[in-house]
Amino acid sequence: MELFGIIMAAGKGTRMKSLDTTKSKVAFDLLGVPLVGHVINALKPLHLHRTITIVGHGGETTAKVVEGRSEVVWQREQKGTGHAVMQVAPLLEGKSGTTLIVSGDTPLITSKSLDQLLKTHIEGGFDLTILTSIVPNPFGYGRMIRNSKGQVTAIVEEINASEPEKKIQEINTGFYVFNNNLLFKYLKELPPNPKNGEYNITFLIKMFMDKGFKIGASTVDTFEETLGINDRAQLAEARLIMQRRINHQHMVNGVTIENPDNTFISPQVIIGQDTVIQTGVYLIGDVKIGQANMIGANTSIENTTIGNHNHIESSKIIDSTIGDQNHIGPFAHIRGHAIVTNETRIGNFVEIKAAKLHRGVKVAHLSYLGDCEVGERTNIGAGTIVANYDGNKKHLTTIGKDVFVGSGTTLISPVVIEDESVIAAGSTINQNVKKGDLAIARQRQENKPGYYKHWLKKIGK
Ligand code: UD1
Ligand code: CA
Repeated sequence: MELFGIIMAAGKGTRMKSLDTTKSKVAFDLLGVPLVGHVINALKPLHLHRTITIVGHGGETTAKVVEGRSEVVWQREQKGTGHAVMQVAPLLEGKSGTTLIVSGDTPLITSKSLDQLLKTHIEGGFDLTILTSIVPNPFGYGRMIRNSKGQVTAIVEEINASEPEKKIQEINTGFYVFNNNLLFKYLKELPPNPKNGEYNITFLIKMFMDKGFKIGASTVDTFEETLGINDRAQLAEARLIMQRRINHQHMVNGVTIENPDNTFISPQVIIGQDTVIQTGVYLIGDVKIGQANMIGANTSIENTTIGNHNHIESSKIIDSTIGDQNHIGPFAHIRGHAIVTNETRIGNFVEIKAAKLHRGVKVAHLSYLGDCEVGERTNIGAGTIVANYDGNKKHLTTIGKDVFVGSGTTLISPVVIEDESVIAAGSTINQNVKKGDLAIARQRQENKPGYYKHWLKKIGK
């Protein structure tokens, strides 16, 4: 039997109130992953034969974020969830199989609940199975209507609900499993919602009931995972839940997180045992961190006014690999494609980008290392800058083993600094340095004896 997945992600996302009309709601970021990316992650263990995402509003962005992980179908005009699924007919109509329909704006859903939903559907021999949830405040959700035998007979949307129906706390989560043939057969007959003219997929339930098809339901264990993101307050709520889930997992695996409510880790991040993470750390994207590292605390911004379109960096590690027993931060910024091997020291106000640091490297303060490689045990003095950018292109610099780079050095890329060499503090280096040599590239100091008195006179004191 073939298993298909459809992700509804074309909606306008009006309630996000974004100025950016090219951005879809499902492209909003949740711990370094777009909302729809979390949904695709939850689908992955189900081994679907095909996954199709319906894009529309901000569709170019959505198509980009699901690229390589899902097929894309366009819904040019957003006329409701039923109308959205109809757009998939050219791909799936007439195929026998089972179709899981999910909402792209429900990032907390777990594979376990989806698996349970599929099992209920298959084992119960149902034509349609709905994932439901019991919530404290059902406002805004479709309510589950059941008959005296407890069977589901309809879903009633908020705008269509009567006062007694509005009190029902069992809601439709927006996740369904359908017999694929029946789904596309009856979508064509879907009537518009008389209240707003939309074609709601939820109206299929009553149709299936009237035709005598078998309808099942599976209820999630924790209602939190079915939270739909419609506005930015719900986005923050979801972030908190996801953050707690991820951080909890790391802590039980042997990672110390000093302040889990103020530590932000993407779901794909890997962290080894005995690593300590102080407060305010961001580990975003494809980050791998080994064992027994110390990741120091973050920056804080106080009593500051900030205008528009600023990008304010803090203690962040993005798309990087960190080995074992390193000491990083506080206030370090490790940007994309960095590789930090083992036992290094990366101090405060150090920025590392696309650099490989070998074992035992020390770069303790105020430095920028971009597009370079630094050999074992090399010491990078305070305020060292790799000038990797000539205004047009980035260039590579290589620094060997056991090199001593004096403070305040500028290395104008590309240069090669061979092993066991010394660079005098304050040098501006634009030529290669040979093994065992000293490079000194600055004006010689001149002292003028007794000049102080002359200076006092000169300034009129
Ligand atoms: C929907 C359900 C409701 C359920 C709730 C769960 C309908 C009519 N209602 O309501 O019963 O309790 O989800 O969260 O289905 N979308 C499209 N094209 C459209 C409209 C929507 O692709 O024309 C997509 C949206 O991008 C979104 C999903 O479908 O990912 C759900 O749409 P949304 O407008 O958020 O529905 P709700 O009002 O939340
Ligand atoms: Ca929704």
